[in-house]
Amino acid sequence: MIISGIGIDIINVNRIRKSIMARPFAEKILSSFEYENTDKKLFGEPLYMSFVFSAKEAVSKAVGTGFVGISYKDINVYFNDKCPYAMINASIKGLNKYKYYLKFERTGNNVTCDAPMIITTCIAYKPGNAEELIFNILNDNEYAYLAKTQIIPIENIDFKKLTEAELCFRHESRAANIAAKEALFNLLGLDNTIANYQKLLILRDASGKPYFYTTDKEINKSLDEYNTYLSLSHEKEVAVAFVLLQAKE
Ligand SMILES: CC(C)(COP(=O)(O)OP(=O)(O)OC[C@H]1O[C@@H](n2cnc3c(N)ncnc32)[C@H](O)[C@@H]1OP(=O)(O)O)[C@@H](O)C(=O)NCCC(=O)NCCS
Repeated sequence: MIISGIGIDIINVNRIRKSIMARPFAEKILSSFEYENTDKKLFGEPLYMSFVFSAKEAVSKAVGTGFVGISYKDINVYFNDKCPYAMINASIKGLNKYKYYLKFERTGNNVTCDAPMIITTCIAYKPGNAEELIFNILNDNEYAYLAKTQIIPIENIDFKKLTEAELCFRHESRAANIAAKEALFNLLGLDNTIANYQKLLILRDASGKPYFYTTDKEINKSLDEYNTYLSLSHEKEVAVAFVLLQAKE
C-alpha cells in the first residue's frame, strides 16, 4: 500500500469563532459543492467550520505543498461516521487521484490546554478497499504501520531537547520539533534521553515541509527500516506532531 503523504492541523475553535464573526468565512473556504450542499445554519457554527478548515489545512500538508497551486475551495470534505475523507477537485491534475482520509479529535479544557482545540490528522492514499486499514492506522497501530500523534504545550519547553540549529527556529516550531522527536522515539522504542534529542533534528525542505535528519548511526539504523512520514502544526498554546512509519518491504 502506498501512502503519498500525511498531514496534521491543530486549530483553536475560538479563533475560528472570531473569523466567522469578522467576515464571510464559509464563502472564503468552502468549495462550491460544499457551499451548495451544506445546511447554511452550519456556516455560523464555529465547531463545524473548525472541522472543515482544519481538514483542509491537514490535506494541504499531506499534498506536500501547503496552499500553493491549490486553495481551500479546491478541497471537498466529506463527513461520515466511519472514516471521513476529502477529495481535491479534478481541475487540480495529479492530486485528485488520492483520497485524503481524516480523523478529528477534540481536546479542550484538559491538562494540555485551556482553549477548545481540534486536531485533524490526514493520510493520503489511492482509493481502494483500504478504508478499514486507514481507519485502523488513524485510530491505533496496525501491523506494518506505526503512527503517533504527540501534543505538547508551548510554554516551558525544555531547550535541552533542541540542537543549536533548532534554537534559531520560532518558538512554536521548536515545540513542534520536540513533539516530533518524542513521537519518533516512542515509535522506534528509543530512549527518551537528552543525548538522543541532541542527535536528532527536524528540518524543513524548500517548500516548508518538515523531515527528520540525523547523522547518528543507531537512530539511522532504526529509521532505515521504515518509510518515514512527518507533519507538524502549532497554535499559540500548543504544538502537535504526527509521525507515521511504514515498514519497508
Ligand atoms: C502549510 C500551511 C497550510 C501551514 O499552515 P499554517 O496555518 O501556517 O500553520 P500550522 O501551524 O498549521 O502548520 C505549520 C507547519 O506546516 C508545515 N508545513 C509548511 N509547509 C509545508 C509543506 N509544503 N508541506 C507540508 N507541511 C508544511 C511545517 O511543518 C510548519 O511548521 P513550522 O512553521 O514549524 O515549520 C501554510 O503555511 C501554507 O499554505 N504554506 C504554503 C504557502 C506559503 O508558504 N506561503 C507563504 C510564503 S511564500
